[in-house]
This record gives sequence, structure tokens and C-alpha cells, in this order.
Amino acid sequence: MIEVTGLRAGYGDGPDILHGIDLRVFAGEIVTILGPNGCGKSTLLKAIGGFVEPRAGRIAIEGEDVGAVPVHRRIREHRIGFVPQTDNVFRTMSVAENIMLGARLLPAREQWARFFSLMDTYPALAGKRDRRASALSGGERQLLSVARALIAGPTVLLLDEPSAGLSPVMMDEVFDEIVRIRERTGMTILMVEQNAVQALSVSDRAYVLSLGRVAIEQPAPELLANPTLAGLYFGAAA
Ligand SMILES: Nc1ncnc2c1ncn2[C@@H]1O[C@H](COP(=O)(O)OP(=O)(O)OP(=O)(O)O)[C@@H](O)[C@H]1O
Ligand SMILES: [Mg+2]
Repeated sequence: MIEVTGLRAGYGDGPDILHGIDLRVFAGEIVTILGPNGCGKSTLLKAIGGFVEPRAGRIAIEGEDVGAVPVHRRIREHRIGFVPQTDNVFRTMSVAENIMLGARLLPAREQWARFFSLMDTYPALAGKRDRRASALSGGERQLLSVARALIAGPTVLLLDEPSAGLSPVMMDEVFDEIVRIRERTGMTILMVEQNAVQALSVSDRAYVLSLGRVAIEQPAPELLANPTLAGLYFGAAA
């Protein structure tokens, strides 16, 4: 479970980007964060992942305050997996090397066992395991970035725009995969998305951010029918 309470955060000595965020993701839920460009979605995800330090408020994973815990310990001890929005694979490294980067905090004997298990799960990556990541399609790269997060065995998975830049077919595959990950592992999943309809249709609940604040928090099916959302995303009258 992820609990964010009164979170304020920003960059360097710049202004607050997040102005007191309250957010919960219960165990096994899929929750989507929506909102316009620049409203702070990635900043919120990075704060939960440990890449941006909170200025105030609390971030707890399974009830434990992780606000001051460095990234490598959030991955290892609090089992947080993070798939960033951009630059999420190392292009000059092979597919296998990219995945194994995510395994380096595991005991040595577990690393290859998990790798081969992932190769069974993702034949598209297995077939290209020795190719450079730069030779993958956008969708395959996204999958690679997800596989690198999964190899560490997270219980909480943070995904920043997993469907960005993908064709409609690949987009559907990414969202189907997110559902399968939850079915397989019971993982708690928090994602940021711009493709609101597809994301909401696989989510339990959603938050809409506006200028660093939570504007709406609703069950996903209700938000899909919410005229404010329609106004924001589909150009309909709000
Ligand atoms: N590394 C950084 N240093 C300074 N300011 C930053 C940094 N990253 C983001 N910002 C600023 O923080 C604000 C929120 O950015 P953020 O990336 O969280 O938005 P977002 O909602 O994810 O947007 P998008 O939909 O475009 O990905 C923006 O004003 C942005 O310029
Ligand atoms: Mg972003």
C-alpha cells in the first residue's frame, strides 16, 4: 500500500511543484494519475520512487515512512519498482544487460533464475536478448523497461506514461500487460497516463492533478463518466 499525505515537493531551490498531495493506493489496486502537462504527475511519482525529496508531508509504503530512505533501499527493502517517463533503457547495452541492471541488488543465485523466468513471460524480449536496446521498437523498449523493474520483484510498481508514443495496438498490449502483472503477482500499481480512457478502463481508481494539487479523486468508472474529465481530455463542454 502507498500512502501519501500532505506532500510538498519541488526541485533545488525552486518553488513547490506539489502543494500538499494526499493519495492512497491500496494493496493490489491499479490507480491512474491524470492531469495536464506540467501539473506535477512525474514529480509525484519520482517523490514516491525516491528521486525527488519531500519538503513536507509523508510517504509510506506498507505503513513504513520512506520519505528519507534513499532510492537503492526503496528498491531493495521497500520493493518499489519504477519505470521512468523518458530515457528508460540504456540504448548501447543489450536487452539482457538492461534487464540484469534491475537485478543487481538481488542475491547472485536469484538473478539468473529471475531472468530466465522473465524470458518465459516475455518471448518478444527473449528473442532479442542479445540485441542492443537501440534496435528495439518503442513498444519493445517500454516492455524492456517494465521487465527491468519487474526482475527485482517489486510489490509496488510505479509507471510513468507506459503507453506514450505507442500505436493503438501496442498501447492496448501495454495496458493488457499491466492487468496481467496484477493478476500474476497481486502487485500494487500506480501509473501516470495521458491516454485517459484506456488507462481508466484498466484502473480501479484515479486522481486528476491540477497545478500540483488533487482536483478529483474517483473510482475509475465514475471518472470515465465525469463531465469535467470529458472537458479536460475530450474537448467536450465541461
Ligand atoms: N528536474 C527538474 N528541475 C526543475 N524543474 C523541473 C524538473 N522536472 C520537472 N520540473 C518542473 O516541474 C513541473 C512539473 O513537472 P512534471 O514533470 O512533474 O509534470 P508532468 O505532470 O509529469 O508533465 P508531463 O505531462 O508533461 O509529463 C514543471 O513546471 C517542470 O518544469
Ligand atoms: Mg510527466
